Amino acid sequence: MSYLMIGGGRPLHGRIAVQCAKNSVLPVLAAALLAGDTCRIAECPRLSDVETAAEILRHLGCTAQWDGNDLLVDTTHISRCDIPEELMRKMRSSVIFLGAILSRCGQAELSYPGGCELGPRPIDLHLTALRTLGAEINEIGGSLLCRANRLRGADIVLTLPSVGATENAILAACGAEGTTVIANAAREPEIADLQDFLQKLGVEIHGAGTSSITVQGKGTLHGCTHRCIGDRIAASTYLCAAAAAGGQVTLTGINYRHLATVTTALHQAGCRLQCDDDTITLESSGRLRAIAPVRTSPYPGFPTDAQPLLMAALLRSEGATMFVENMFESRYRHVPELLRMGAEIRLEGRVAVVCGVTDLHSAAVRSADLRGGAALVIAGLQAQGVTQIHNIHYIQRGYQDIAGDLAALGAEVSTAEP
Ligand code: UD1
Repeated sequence: MSYLMIGGGRPLHGRIAVQCAKNSVLPVLAAALLAGDTCRIAECPRLSDVETAAEILRHLGCTAQWDGNDLLVDTTHISRCDIPEELMRKMRSSVIFLGAILSRCGQAELSYPGGCELGPRPIDLHLTALRTLGAEINEIGGSLLCRANRLRGADIVLTLPSVGATENAILAACGAEGTTVIANAAREPEIADLQDFLQKLGVEIHGAGTSSITVQGKGTLHGCTHRCIGDRIAASTYLCAAAAAGGQVTLTGINYRHLATVTTALHQAGCRLQCDDDTITLESSGRLRAIAPVRTSPYPGFPTDAQPLLMAALLRSEGATMFVENMFESRYRHVPELLRMGAEIRLEGRVAVVCGVTDLHSAAVRSADLRGGAALVIAGLQAQGVTQIHNIHYIQRGYQDIAGDLAALGAEVSTAEP
């Protein structure tokens, strides 16, 4: 399998456009099922997770085809309402199709998404939300059988502001009679983006971006064209890369407000930042300082997805920084690989303390998950020698062309075959 080779020690300079957000595109593709019509997802990132979502749509009897950089999805015809286990296993977030299929077909059958790279990923909140709308759900031998002759609008209270559960609740509520109010909803920008898409389809929905979302179900819907928001985690990746390697980088197509906690941390670490409506410029000497403890939490808190990225940026900082991972149990799988490159990190349960070292050295390392893999790339950019990063299929789940983007900024990056 191919791997990445990164020659460290070069500062990054230049300007790149940030891809559209993976975490917007995936729920939007599920939501396209509700249109029963053609939707054009403009500048859709070509990611393996997007291919999996397209495969799910095709399996359901819809069409999904590329037209240049746009993905055209026609959901006029749908011939089945199940998702096979192999597609569920390829991408845990296939579970966001559940609400959409139920909404469109009144029934859905899919295998249970098991644990994954980040540790157990329960879906109890998703199921409770759907049951509140009147769905009958049976879990039989690892399969979920969901049926709802009539979904009815209801008050859904999420005990945690889960992103996926909020999306599933919204999508199912679109097919329910009457009004649904989701309390303690996730406030991520990608949920507001899903709302924008649904409004274009004709859904009466408001409140996304706040913790109370109201959906009026059973509207008459139609297709639309939608371009998703810029990817705040991809943007955070390139900012952390430039912060660590030094240089000056401008990112376009990204709303700086969506990554304010990340830019604030990088500013504390000694970077200079300039933000306009849809561009961010970062300038760094490459020598950072330690920052106040970083605690991951739901939006607008510090994103768990950016924790490995910021940790990698601070590996050579002056002083020690504490990270507290509050969202997922196994989100430090990049740490043993970073240690192989000479990093000094102490790990105890949910807490990791990074003590800056003077130099990192290259090694052959393995990604264990998407953002952990990106963290290894950031480490490679500041290490002496050529770092090999294996298992890049994890990275390809979320980055359209990380090697191309970094090469455009002057990094020495290439993809090699064994
Ligand atoms: C989404 C993002 C992922 C990000 C995560 C947290 C997508 C496709 N993925 O994942 O990149 O890391 O948000 O910001 O948008 N939980 C339960 N029961 C449930 C659902 C969740 O206990 O039914 C817990 C999870 O174990 C986790 C927390 O809630 O501890 C947050 O998870 P959630 O917001 O649901 O994350 P995802 O939607 O899976």
